[in-house]
Amino acid sequence: MSHLADEIRRRRTFAIIAHPDAGKTTLTEKLLWFGGAILMAGAVRARKSGKHATSDWMELEKQRGISVTSSVMQFPYRDCMINLLDTPGHEDFSEDTYRTLTAVDSAVMVIDSVKGVEAQTIKLLNVCRLRDTPIVTFVNKLDRDGRPPIELLDEIESVLNIECAPITWPIGMGELFRGVYHLYDDTISFFDPKAEKGTAEIIQGLDNPRLDELIGEQAEELRLEVELVRGASHTFDLDAYLAGRQCPVFFGSAANNFGVQSLLDAIVERAPGPKPRPAESRAVDPFEEKFSGFIFKIQANMDPKHRDRIAFLRVCSGRFERGMKIRQVAGGKSIAVNNAITFMARDRNTTDEAYAGDIIGIPNHGTIRLGETFSEGENLRFTGIPSFAPEIFQRAILRNPLKLKQLQKGLQQLAEEGAAQLFRPISSNDLILGAVGNLQFDVVAHRLAHEYAVEAIFEPVSVATARWLHGSDEQLKLLADKYPQNIAIDGAGDQVYLAPNAVNLRLTQERFPDVRFMETREVR
Ligand code: G4P
Repeated sequence: MSHLADEIRRRRTFAIIAHPDAGKTTLTEKLLWFGGAILMAGAVRARKSGKHATSDWMELEKQRGISVTSSVMQFPYRDCMINLLDTPGHEDFSEDTYRTLTAVDSAVMVIDSVKGVEAQTIKLLNVCRLRDTPIVTFVNKLDRDGRPPIELLDEIESVLNIECAPITWPIGMGELFRGVYHLYDDTISFFDPKAEKGTAEIIQGLDNPRLDELIGEQAEELRLEVELVRGASHTFDLDAYLAGRQCPVFFGSAANNFGVQSLLDAIVERAPGPKPRPAESRAVDPFEEKFSGFIFKIQANMDPKHRDRIAFLRVCSGRFERGMKIRQVAGGKSIAVNNAITFMARDRNTTDEAYAGDIIGIPNHGTIRLGETFSEGENLRFTGIPSFAPEIFQRAILRNPLKLKQLQKGLQQLAEEGAAQLFRPISSNDLILGAVGNLQFDVVAHRLAHEYAVEAIFEPVSVATARWLHGSDEQLKLLADKYPQNIAIDGAGDQVYLAPNAVNLRLTQERFPDVRFMETREVR
């Protein structure tokens, strides 16, 4: 096997999806710890609680205790190279999460054993389903008195419409949680919250007398339950998992390190490496020699001292090497990337090379846009990067009118990054922001204050919905002449119709049958 193919095959790029509080941050940290990427558990949770500032790019994260930016962590584990993409978990702030999910090859879904399937779990799973992303489920917090495991699996199957194949099975829960039985290895791992890695002992065989010795009556219960579970649940089917139809299920307690190693092992052994990606002209195979990739995230001002902007690129094929000249397909320009970075768990390092499946960060000054494709020359455009129809609109109001220039600049840059969408009506000087969740306005206001020194507030405006306009120049001009108060230009320079209500939108559409009113701007 060639070196290139070898490197690509060992990539595992995934994200963790969860409803807030299910334990995503804890699990992320424990995966890094078991993977040897951090020496001491505590760093990631500390970042969340604001105890120290490792990779804590935004003060808001600390204040809110939520992660509002995705970050990327790469670490080797066994013979694989893991890329773990962090996603913000807050239900109000999901555009970034959705885009990040377009850059992974598989996902881990964390379910809180007490709460079961929650609202955000459903939304995120639906996003994964758009690309049939394979999912591994981790049922967390078994050290608490949660719902019966059979009931949880039933709920996952019926609400999320995906088959469950338990790989491990819990022995008791809450105070009586004793560990898990591995249905395929026929081993029992005993839980001990005081043991360094959560596991006290591992024994072979359900009939092993040591089992009775260690857990007494619960041993017989376990034997009966396992028989029942084997009969009533799905057997693990690799193809069904890879097709996104079935999820293998692991039980554990991330806070107590328990079950985390089995999960990481399962990812290495079973999760898919990079897959072919659709582009407009053809599908791109990861093993192609030539480099290609797309931008799924832009992050500005990560380091307030340097006004840098990082475009996160998912490598889709071939190999990237420092200094390599790559073509920004949309603009047709070639750039030499000498300063690409990767995101190791502790700090940003200069990349020497990256392979299909990896993520690289390209510093730039606002010249790279979300969704853009880069190649070694070919005119490729990757498809499937979602764009979102904003649901809430607000007007930015300055506290100090002299700062209009900064406000415009800040909003423009934040919009390019995807923090929110910007609309400038052609008939006024208003700056209107559109968002999917209310929290996005708080994030923008906070970042305007901290990164651009502009105090702005947001107030409601009578816009209910936006439509991107496609049509001949003549038709678009007629429309703009007739309804100047409804026409705005978005952050990318495209023309948009801002409708105060559904009736207005319908009437205008009827009057201009040759203009297409699109719900989202195409990202390419
Ligand atoms: P999130 O990123 O999905 O929002 O969840 P996070 O990891 O922050 O975990 C949410 C809460 O659940 C935290 O408690 C965390 O300690 C707790 N937790 C995570 N895994 C387990 C587990 O296996 N068992 C139990 N019992 N709890 C778990 P917190 O009270 O918000 O914070 P802290 O006081 O622990 O710092």
